[in-house]
Amino acid sequence: MPDPTTRPSQPVAFPQDRTCPYHPPAGYDPVRATRPLARVTLYDGRPAWLVTGHTLARELLTDPRLSTDRNRDGFPMTTPRFAAVKDRRTALLGVDDPEHHTQRRMMIPSFTLRRATELRPRIQRTVDGLLDAMIAQGPPAELVGAFALPVPSMVICALLGVPYADHEFFEEQSRRLLRGPTAEETQDARKRLEEYLGDLIDRKGENPGDGVLDDLVRQQRREGRPDREELLAMAIILLVAGHETTANMISLGTYTLLRHPERLAELRADPALLPAAVEELMRLLSIADGLLRVATEDIEAAGTTIRAGDGVVFSTSVINRDQDVYAAPDTLDFHRPARHHIAFGFGIHQCLGQNLARTELEIALGSLLRRLPTLRLAAPPEEIPFKPGDTIQGMLELPVSW
Ligand code: HEM
Repeated sequence: MPDPTTRPSQPVAFPQDRTCPYHPPAGYDPVRATRPLARVTLYDGRPAWLVTGHTLARELLTDPRLSTDRNRDGFPMTTPRFAAVKDRRTALLGVDDPEHHTQRRMMIPSFTLRRATELRPRIQRTVDGLLDAMIAQGPPAELVGAFALPVPSMVICALLGVPYADHEFFEEQSRRLLRGPTAEETQDARKRLEEYLGDLIDRKGENPGDGVLDDLVRQQRREGRPDREELLAMAIILLVAGHETTANMISLGTYTLLRHPERLAELRADPALLPAAVEELMRLLSIADGLLRVATEDIEAAGTTIRAGDGVVFSTSVINRDQDVYAAPDTLDFHRPARHHIAFGFGIHQCLGQNLARTELEIALGSLLRRLPTLRLAAPPEEIPFKPGDTIQGMLELPVSW
C-alpha cells in the first residue's frame, strides 16, 4: 500500500496498462498516494486533474460545474479514439442537464429494479442454454466467446429488440469503437453501427414490437422526441454499454475468483453471499477506470482551484481503494460494506443499466460456479491476455477447464 504522505514530483501518465488484470496499474502507485487530487499527463501530453479520493469523487461527480460534453474545450481525451467521434451526436453520456435529464427520463422505465427482476427467468434461461452448450462441447472452453460475451449480448438484444442473429456484426463494431487501433477505425465503426441501427429503427417504424427501441420509436411518433439522430445515439450507447461492460465483468470476475481459491470456496459453500460478492468484485475490479469531465467554471477543491477548461478524470480503481473508506482495500472481502463504490459512476450519469448488470452478474457467476464445481484456468494465469488500460478492463480470452 503506497504511503499517503508522499507526493509525486512528476505527474504520471494516464491511462496505463494494468500489471495484474484485477489491480490498478503499478504505475498509479504515486497517484494512489496523492489523495484526494493528483495531476496526470494524458496521451497527447496535456495535463489533467486525477480525482483519487472517495469523498471528493462523490462531491465532484454531483457538481453541475463539471460537464461530460466532449466538444467543450479542454475535455480530457484519454485516447486518440475520442477525437474521432468528437463531433458526433451522443445520448446521456456526453450530454449535460437539462437535456440529459430529458433523455434519461425517456429510458428510466425500461431499466428499473423491477424490470430487471422481471427479466430474471429469461436471463436464467439464456445462461443455462449457454452453459449446456459449453458443457456438451468441453472441456476445455474459451469462456469469453462461449459465455461471458454471449450472455449480456443476448440479454441486451432481447431487451432492446435487436436481432441476436446480427451479433457478430455489432460485437465486432463495438470492439472497434472501444478498442480500434486508429481514430479512422473508430469513426468507421460508429458509422457502420449508425447505418445498421438506422435501418433497424426505420423497419420498427413500420411495425413496432415490444423492445426498448420499439418503445422509443412509439414515443417519437407520439411526442416528436427523441428525434431520429437522438434515437440513434441512444440505441448505440445502450447496445454497446449493454454488452461490453457486463461481458468484461463476467470474464474478469471469473478469473479473479479462480485466482482467489479461498474466496471461491467460501462463495460455493454459501451462495447467499453472491450479491455481496458481485458488489465487492465491482469495487475491486473497477472495469470502467477513467470517468471524464471538463470544468465549466472555477471550482475550489482540496485546497486548490480546478480552473474552467481543466480536464478532470476519475480513476475508479484508485477511488474504490481509498483506504480511508475501505480497510485493506486491495483485498477481496465479501463481508465488507462495498456497496457505496463508484464502479457504476455516481451522480446524474450513474449507470442506467446497473440493475440489469447486477442481475446478469449474479445469475451468470452463480450458475457457472454451481454447474462447474471443478472449474479452473486451463493456462498459466500470467499467460492469459487481458485488455489494455485505455479501454474497459477485462480478459481478452479466458481458457478454462473442469
Ligand atoms: C458491469 C457492467 C457495467 C459497468 C461496470 C458500467 C459502468 C458504467 C459507468 C461507470 C457509468 C458512468 C460513466 C460516467 O459517469 O462517466 C455508466 C453509465 C452508463 N451505463 Fe453502464 N455499466 C455497466 C453495465 C451497463 C449496462 C448493462 C447497460 C445497459 C444498457 C449500461 C448503460 C449505461 C448508460 C446508458 C450509461 C450512461 C448514463 C447517463 O449518462 O445518464 N451499463 N456505466
